[in-house]
Amino acid sequence: MTIYDKIERTLQQLGVSDARGVESLFAELQKTAEQERAELVSRSAPDQPQRDRLCKALRDRWLARKGGVLSRVDENWLKPAGKELKPVVGRHFNDLRRWTASLEFEKLAEALPLQEGPAKQVELPLTTGAGRAVPRDLTLPGLRRPLGSVHPVTRMQREIEDIFLRLGFWIESGPEIESTYYNFDALNIPESHPSRDDWDTFYIDAKTVLRTHTSPVQIRAMEKYGAPLHIIIPGKCYRHDNPDATHYPMFHQVEGLAIDKDITFADLKGTLDFFAKMLFGEKVRTRFQPSFFPFTEPSGEVAVSCFVCDGQGCRVCKESGWIELMGCGMVHPQVLRYGGIDPDKYSGWAFGLGVDRFAMVKHDINDIQLFFQGDVRFLEQF
Ligand code: FA5
Repeated sequence: MTIYDKIERTLQQLGVSDARGVESLFAELQKTAEQERAELVSRSAPDQPQRDRLCKALRDRWLARKGGVLSRVDENWLKPAGKELKPVVGRHFNDLRRWTASLEFEKLAEALPLQEGPAKQVELPLTTGAGRAVPRDLTLPGLRRPLGSVHPVTRMQREIEDIFLRLGFWIESGPEIESTYYNFDALNIPESHPSRDDWDTFYIDAKTVLRTHTSPVQIRAMEKYGAPLHIIIPGKCYRHDNPDATHYPMFHQVEGLAIDKDITFADLKGTLDFFAKMLFGEKVRTRFQPSFFPFTEPSGEVAVSCFVCDGQGCRVCKESGWIELMGCGMVHPQVLRYGGIDPDKYSGWAFGLGVDRFAMVKHDINDIQLFFQGDVRFLEQF
């Protein structure tokens, strides 16, 4: 029997005939009031009127002249109590009245946290701390608990994936803790090669690293599936980079790899141009400039005309009219060989892009660190 059942019965009906029994009944009531108050304080409300209504409901449940807990105690415990028990019940009742008044249910309205945006919220059923359904005011709006939303980096990754899935690519993944063989050697970056320094990372031991890019999965996929191959590889990467506005020691890349007969640089250009237009809008133009990566030959850097100012120069493109997007190139024959594919029969292209930087460009965010600080005031905007 809950305390709400007990207040509907007299002490006699409850079999309480001494001071100790009375004391424990009032202690139970006090505990319930404390629980319900704590439960209310731990909830958030979407707006001030809702906060006021929640607090008023709790106040009324306990203090309403008609039907409130205290009035039921007065009615069923105090008034019918026998001569011997009446002073004890009266004392406890007065204490309880003073104490519940001191809880200041009405003022709780100020303390309740506010929620944002009804779209992110779900309804919660209203129960008492004692777990018993109480008479409810059905005109009150439901209680809501805030839900999270998709992280902007994850959302950007999914947008990129969707475009390539529509082109017939599939999604491949590989380990974040990677051997130096896959991360470097098989990508044509021997131990002595100076470009290995560019991808300085965290070593688990002499032969194991946290992968510096998603490119090692190129080799793993070639070994696993052979040619032809059309895949994208999204995933986390790690580098020994100090955090600043555009660098973070952990970040996200999407790798693209297409291997087939007669694949040329024109296929690479066409695919990446289509991709850029799908992501940033029909109007953007792509620009390919020579670059160097040990695992592609020739290699290139891709930029798009600024989708904000249309190439005129603005804050987003740092007045240059262009936004650097990614590295790319034709898969080096040596890398195909490492993957077990005959470069005389097959050729391929590859690219690698930074998802976090894409999300920064798209949402005009000036500091990559905001993505990983977990500040809901920032994350709620997406
Ligand atoms: C690579 O990692 C190559 N594997 C890309 C590639 C793949 C080229 C296939 C050719 C063929 P790079 O070191 O430039 O290239 O890194 C690619 C992108 O990762 C960068 O343009 C940047 O957007 C992102 N990136 C690199 N380091 C960081 C970092 N510390 N924080 C955030 N993003 C980073």
